[in-house]
Amino acid sequence: MYLLKFFPMIFTSKEERRKFHDSFKGCFILLILIASANICSGLTDQVEVSALKAIHRDVGDVLNRLSNWAGDDPCGSGWTGVICETINGTGHVTELRLLNMNLTGSIAPDVGNLTELVILDFMWNNITGSIPPEIGNLSKLYLLLLNGNKLTGELPPELGNLSQLNRIQIDQNNISGPIPSTFQFLNNAKHFHMNNNSLNGSIPPELGRLENLVHLLLDNNDLSGELPAELSNISTLLIMQLDNNHFSGSIPSNYSQLGNLRKLSLRNCNLTGVIPDVSAMSNLGYLDLSSNQLTGQLPLAISQTITTIDLAYNKLDGDIPDALYKLRGLELLFLQNNFLNGTFNGSIMEHDLFANASSVLILDIQYNNITDYQSGALLSLSNVTLRLYGNPVCNDNSLGGNICNEYNGSILNLSLPNTATSPSLECSSELTCDPSRNFELVYGLSLLYGECHCAYPLNIGYRLKSPGFAIFPPYEDGFQVHLSSGLNLSVYQVNVSSYNWEPGPRLSMNIKLFPNNTTNEFTEAEVDHLFNTFTSWIIPDNYTFGPYELLFFNKDFPYNGTLSPGTTSSLSGGAIAGIIIGVIIFTGVLVAVFVILIAKRQQRYAKARRHHERIKVAGVKDFTYEEMTKATNNFEGSTEVGQGGYGKVYRGTLADGTVVAIKRAQEGSLQGAREFFNEIELLSRIHHRNLVSLIGFCDDEDEQMLVYEYMENGTLRDHLNLSSKQPSNFVTRIQIALGSARGILYLHTEANPPIYHRDIKASNILLDSNRRAKVADFGLSRLAPVAELEGDTGGHVSTVVKGTPGYLDPEYFYTHKLTDKSDVYSFGVVLLELITGMQAITKGKNLVREVNLAYEAGMLLSVVDPRMGPYPAECLRPLVSLAISCCQDDTDSRPSMSEVVRELEAIWSLIPGKDTMGSLETSISTDSGVNYSKGLYFNNSFASSEVSGSGLMSGTIPHVAPR
Ligand SMILES: *[C@@H]1O[C@H](CO)[C@@H](O)[C@H](O)[C@H]1NC(C)=O
Ligand SMILES: *[C@@H]1O[C@H](CO)[C@@H](O)[C@H](O)[C@H]1NC(C)=O
Ligand SMILES: *[C@@H]1O[C@H](CO)[C@@H](O)[C@H](O)[C@H]1NC(C)=O
Ligand SMILES: *[C@@H]1O[C@H](CO)[C@@H](O)[C@H](O)[C@H]1NC(C)=O
Repeated sequence: MYLLKFFPMIFTSKEERRKFHDSFKGCFILLILIASANICSGLTDQVEVSALKAIHRDVGDVLNRLSNWAGDDPCGSGWTGVICETINGTGHVTELRLLNMNLTGSIAPDVGNLTELVILDFMWNNITGSIPPEIGNLSKLYLLLLNGNKLTGELPPELGNLSQLNRIQIDQNNISGPIPSTFQFLNNAKHFHMNNNSLNGSIPPELGRLENLVHLLLDNNDLSGELPAELSNISTLLIMQLDNNHFSGSIPSNYSQLGNLRKLSLRNCNLTGVIPDVSAMSNLGYLDLSSNQLTGQLPLAISQTITTIDLAYNKLDGDIPDALYKLRGLELLFLQNNFLNGTFNGSIMEHDLFANASSVLILDIQYNNITDYQSGALLSLSNVTLRLYGNPVCNDNSLGGNICNEYNGSILNLSLPNTATSPSLECSSELTCDPSRNFELVYGLSLLYGECHCAYPLNIGYRLKSPGFAIFPPYEDGFQVHLSSGLNLSVYQVNVSSYNWEPGPRLSMNIKLFPNNTTNEFTEAEVDHLFNTFTSWIIPDNYTFGPYELLFFNKDFPYNGTLSPGTTSSLSGGAIAGIIIGVIIFTGVLVAVFVILIAKRQQRYAKARRHHERIKVAGVKDFTYEEMTKATNNFEGSTEVGQGGYGKVYRGTLADGTVVAIKRAQEGSLQGAREFFNEIELLSRIHHRNLVSLIGFCDDEDEQMLVYEYMENGTLRDHLNLSSKQPSNFVTRIQIALGSARGILYLHTEANPPIYHRDIKASNILLDSNRRAKVADFGLSRLAPVAELEGDTGGHVSTVVKGTPGYLDPEYFYTHKLTDKSDVYSFGVVLLELITGMQAITKGKNLVREVNLAYEAGMLLSVVDPRMGPYPAECLRPLVSLAISCCQDDTDSRPSMSEVVRELEAIWSLIPGKDTMGSLETSISTDSGVNYSKGLYFNNSFASSEVSGSGLMSGTIPHVAPR
């Protein structure tokens, strides 16, 4: 069942799916029988039975949730929340899951007699008293989950004996006293979540010995003393969040060695001194040192990965260093209430707006000493907010807009510009779900198909404890991918129905999980599995989203009959009350920057001065206008086959019967005769089997035309479109990729002077009658104002970038420096199109970003085009790796075209039995003697979340964080 759900797209027909389903169901039932036999056999260990009874006695079970705790065999008779394993014929309690049961009272010390316990979970109850030191006897304990209660007293030093402990969650209690120095012995611990208590004293320097610690959350306590320099030894640390304590002294300068740190949050900690050098934290995404008494300058160098910087309410001075203006992924820069001076330099703000339509940039510099403002183009965009109130530059109020208006919002309620989340999906057919049955509409596979159905959702309360961003919309898609992959669901089965920022900042959300599209209801086993996945923290950690907590797991109709513990949202102490308030619906008003830019496309009308002298170029024919009109039946509408930047394209038949493609320059693309001649001369010398060849030209009667060989099978784009009747199989796609790569390589290395195509895209790759790929339109970028994107709206020098949105090299976009690597980027996008069948930009989604998200989440199978049929799994991975490495932002990390060709040849050589597959147009069938078994899909390592680089490619795939 699960497997079926995990890979919903891999069955080519419904029938196959059903067959598989039936056989798998058999196995599944068998497995359940084996598993339950295991649980049922043998009586429960009697020491443990009395320990459970003692626990039952001491907790107040006001709702009688533990009413079935009767008799002497908890393992045999299935006591609520008790999970057992049979060891040497006797049942032992391995998990105690009593979350969300409105329990009061205290935890009996006898819990220490459950010696096989691995998970101890009392989350979200109203338990009082202190943590029994006897818990320190549970030598196998892996998860200690006591958060969200009313525990008091001190932390027992005995907990330091828990050598297997992975996670200690005691946050949101009233625990006081010091952090025991014995916690240094928890050397398997990865997660210390002790925030929101009353812990006091200083952080024990010995904690620096915790060599596996990943998350250190001690915020909202009464900790004091100096921050121990020893914590810099925890090289594994990703999140250090210590806000709202009362430390003294400065931030140890050696924290700059914490090279893996993703988030450093020391807000409101009474710290003095200067900001340590953060330049070596190459993955830093979130830096909050606000509300301290820090002095000195802003950081001069900071990681390009940073999205959020909050240094407000300090005593920082000097000007804003250039480095801060050059952070492309920046979303939020809070510097208000410092002593910063100098000029605010808007013009050099290079924000990564192009790559991500939903990104925003908020700059709050209020209450400083900024005296000048140098305007910048991007600041006039609606996605960018700048606040300068309270600076001398605002004295004469000449800046306009809202720049000089006072603003008092906190980081929790940023007034965001009109951003859009994922554009609303559409169902392929109209469907209304019966509201009387609690059904809700589920959209089909979000990235590809609009297949919809009605189903019962499971409602989940979920909270990110320490997210690595402050603005959610740009991350929402990535979050869906992350969570669905962690739950082994498809992306369309996970829906964030509302979210709300809380102090911390923490992000709490209401999530709906939907059954897959073969059913309208989860099975009991599926519900249990999902519940276990959440509460066992099996979902892999994610750097961007940070640790999560499950707030509730709501089993409304029809799920209220199911077994697992925990119901409804009756949470402890009102702490969670009011979490989910407003439903924020971001409607599909996409303020996509590239759309604006395209709309402002500039038209250059070159007045053509026509000379009617005939020109001669060896090897190409010089056609008259009359010949062209004859060939196209006077440019009749029915002969029109396309439209490019240069002009319209017609299918023509020459007098000798040759079919040709005629590109007719439109007004504005007309060249002077000499330039036109030069281009023809250049193009006439270029011959390669993977380049569309020029047959002739026409320069007559104030018209210019180029005559090319005609490509029967149209463009690659048409071919990949959903409407295509004969989508290519994998082998053909690799051939197309290899062919076009060779064509581009020829342009880069053999043409003299080298030709950078500038407009590689699927619609510029044509397929001949054998489906051989030929690159078209090379050299035309010099002839025609292709797609021009005006990059400046601020009255400065207008710069023009040529290319097509979605394929455009971001480096070229920023620097306007054209290199061979710009073509490599665009070619990478074409590879992604071949793999996914999707377009470079669909409904505001950028393909490069979508695939990176899926790749990062280990969910690549969800984006692979199912229409290409079976493929050898070992070929897919290097292909995707290659595509992703071509599409890296950094020019230098992209391979050259010759490396691309070599890699594609290597992939080609890996395809088993391709030689026996006959000619190009033969489609592969499973009976061609090649073993394309379905098993290939399940062995595919993309199914796991740990995908490493290709093996074939040298150099590794960068970790691409969703923005
Ligand atoms: C748990 O073990 C302790 C010491 O081994 C013992 O004194 C206590 O009675 C046990 N508790 C129960 C309920 O058996
Ligand atoms: C933690 O404590 C802070 C300060 O008291 C409070 O604002 C916040 O809501 C608390 N967070 C949780 C999750 O309890
Ligand atoms: C910590 O708090 C306790 C009371 O809860 C107090 O007795 C103790 O002195 C405090 N210790 C420090 C170091 O402040
Ligand atoms: C998801 O499936 C994979 C393999 O199919 C498995 O290894 C993993 O444990 C599953 N995860 C969950 C949370 O079920």
